[in-house]
Amino acid sequence: MLLKLMNAKKTIEIGVFTGYSLLTTALALPKDGKITAIDIEKSNFEIGLPFIQRAGVENKINFIESAALPVLDKMIQEVKEDDLFDFAFVDADKSNYVEYHERLLKLVRVGGAIAYDNTLWGGSVAVPVDPSHAERFIEGRNYAVKFNDFLAADPRIEISQVCIADGLTICRRII
Ligand SMILES: C[S@@+](CC[C@H](N)C(=O)[O-])C[C@H]1O[C@@H](n2cnc3c(N)ncnc32)[C@H](O)[C@@H]1O
Repeated sequence: MLLKLMNAKKTIEIGVFTGYSLLTTALALPKDGKITAIDIEKSNFEIGLPFIQRAGVENKINFIESAALPVLDKMIQEVKEDDLFDFAFVDADKSNYVEYHERLLKLVRVGGAIAYDNTLWGGSVAVPVDPSHAERFIEGRNYAVKFNDFLAADPRIEISQVCIADGLTICRRII
């Protein structure tokens, strides 16, 4: 719905896995819409690909198998003002979210949006650390708290914290 309201045509997704969010995005874009989809591992994308094909939207997707940061750095070197993305969805390694943000602000147009998944981290960001949680969970929670503070203080964007599922933060680029 968000993509349709924005009239998004050109989007980027970081972290594809089997392509659930990718398919949802592809279905929301117009016929000539394009998605650049980046994941470090292609085999999971291949599991979901038959469903993308059956939905008739494979032609909208350019899948790149790579760690996302070097791909974004290359795009920044080559991008032209008219070519910027309308929307980005980030759902990959949480420890790199700040790095993705810095790059995506150069690749998403002013007025466009960047959405980050898992920013509530099971609700744990709103309460003190629970030492009974697994170390990996606490690490993810601490990344999410730091990232949320970073976004809240970033004057280049305005944010909306959407309290669904594991938390989605939508950032609108304003400068
Ligand atoms: C939570 S899954 C994505 C789920 C998907 N967005 C969805 O909603 O269906 C995270 C994905 O990020 C990918 N990933 C992790 N680190 C990455 C990196 N540095 N660059 C690109 N992809 C990465 C993983 O391979 C994994 O497929």
